[in-house]
Amino acid sequence: MCGIIGFAGNTEAVPILLDGLERLEYRGYDSAGVAVASPEGRLQVKKCKGRLGVLREALAAQKPLTGQVGIGHTRWATHGEPNDVNAHPHVSQSGKLAVVHNGIIENYLEIKQSLLHKGVVFASDTDTEVIVQLLEYYYKKSSNLMDAVYEVLNRIKGAYAMGILCSDFPEQLIAVRKDAPLLIGYGADGNYIASDVTALLAHTRTVTYMEDDEVAVVTADHVQILGRDGCFLEKEKHQIQWDVSAAEKGGYAHFMLKEIMEQPEAIRKTVSPRTIQPRLADGEIVFEELEDERDLMKGISRIYLVACGSAYHVGMIGKYALERLLGIPVEACLASEFRYSGPLLGESALVIVISQSGETLDSMAALREAKRRGSKVLSIVNVMGSSIARESDHVLYTWAGPEIAVATTKAYTTQTVLLLMLGVYLARRLDRIGNGEYQEIVRELHGLHERIGMVLKNLELYQKTVARYFNHDSVFYIGRNQDYALGMEGSLKLKEISYIHSESYAAGELKHGTISLIEPGTLVVALAAYEPLVEKMRSNIVEVRSRGAEVVAMTTEETRDMIGSQASEVFVIPKTHTLLQPVLGVVPLQLFAYYIALNRGCDIDKPRNLAKSVTVE
Ligand code: G6P
Repeated sequence: MCGIIGFAGNTEAVPILLDGLERLEYRGYDSAGVAVASPEGRLQVKKCKGRLGVLREALAAQKPLTGQVGIGHTRWATHGEPNDVNAHPHVSQSGKLAVVHNGIIENYLEIKQSLLHKGVVFASDTDTEVIVQLLEYYYKKSSNLMDAVYEVLNRIKGAYAMGILCSDFPEQLIAVRKDAPLLIGYGADGNYIASDVTALLAHTRTVTYMEDDEVAVVTADHVQILGRDGCFLEKEKHQIQWDVSAAEKGGYAHFMLKEIMEQPEAIRKTVSPRTIQPRLADGEIVFEELEDERDLMKGISRIYLVACGSAYHVGMIGKYALERLLGIPVEACLASEFRYSGPLLGESALVIVISQSGETLDSMAALREAKRRGSKVLSIVNVMGSSIARESDHVLYTWAGPEIAVATTKAYTTQTVLLLMLGVYLARRLDRIGNGEYQEIVRELHGLHERIGMVLKNLELYQKTVARYFNHDSVFYIGRNQDYALGMEGSLKLKEISYIHSESYAAGELKHGTISLIEPGTLVVALAAYEPLVEKMRSNIVEVRSRGAEVVAMTTEETRDMIGSQASEVFVIPKTHTLLQPVLGVVPLQLFAYYIALNRGCDIDKPRNLAKSVTVE
């Protein structure tokens, strides 16, 4: 979704803003723009519908925008169609103020009406323009910019991260945040604001996370952060561990492929600090993050796993695993539904929020609802210092590194493994798992990254196989138990990046309706890696085959023959403990989707209409 970059420094701002916007492209956007304050106090703005390349060309074709202080934005349209006028930055009627904004101003219509009555003329259809026109209105009244900013904050409702320029103060930019991420970066050539740390990595790794209702005034050599009451705040600086190369393609055609290939390392980094090396029979899963909460499960009688998109599919796998391991009800919930569905919250419910970005608005709202109603919240998050991480009672970080492709891969696998590890760890503490099985899982965890590496050695097989299937216009994924959850993820991957219609079904449910859609040539991806139900899956494959379906199967080495004999194609993954099998099983599904999208010539890293981090409801 929308991205913000801002710079106040000792060098020209435009190249820095464009570079920052390029690094934010992955979030998904439909227009882009920049505004720069010239030293003598003139705001210059350029904004265009379309990819960043369009903005670059437009800038190259005109007199350069000069100045060392500026703001930039990539917009993902919510209010008003994607066009040049609705793109950010938005400028006040006099041209004195410019604003970039992420989020939604809920009461913008009411404010717009009152400004229209006062004679203000609006140029765009956006909620954001209301902010800049209202700011001008208050600024004219008080002649004090900061007072005007606070007046605006008192008036607007909704979520926002903003960067503001004023031609009367060409050496500074102002940043504001509420319910949308914004951070400040401290660099050698100046200081930055950004909605996402990846925009800053090329310049600095020293950052401060802004909190809700804070206002920052940023100049080339100063950053002042103020609270809602206008008092100066001492804020902590953090060092980001990610490096620039982690957010670059490094020779791969797409970020998605690079991130698929990074999974062995991401799994190793996530697992190994939390497992004591299993020597003989004394391995251990250790969560230092939970050291102070040895009684996490005390009084807990149910668990909710709450997330969106792929992270929700991780929750579905977790439901099967944690319920079995802990012997209490575990529910996987879509965050967008959670707070409207009357969950049984309170002290006896543990809520586990799963989120790569840590900024997904629906997940954040679910977290707040859970806390408001007295439940403990533990989150599994990839981005350090993100909002969900900061508001949770406990955080377990996945160490996947920056994930740039919109379609998640390495974040999904690391979330899955971490959630499963948590389940096993809690089962051990509650004495609900036998030592034999526990030791086996710890041993298997230890070698998991190597097994993923084995699956990834077969890229050519996927490339070749998939070439036969890329022309299908509908694909069904079937599986049972955790393979059903895996099918949900495989199907979503395919939809997201190849735009092929696809559905995922519990294999046993097909016969209750959907089997009517199976006809000669229909492509069915059958997932048969969940050992206890492999034979039943074999019957389901026979069922669809006998109606003419073409079957691509995924199974383990052990059941290769049983399943392979029934399929036109079989992807074989190494065998591991049943609980951990989905971590390997998802990899062929990622590759399948990737190569299909590649064959169809799709924009794999930036699929249409999608955003990496969804910060609207
Ligand atoms: C978006 C992304 C998905 C992601 C979902 C949840 O829809 O495109 O890939 O699974 O948001 O994001 P989160 O950052 O909370 O994991």
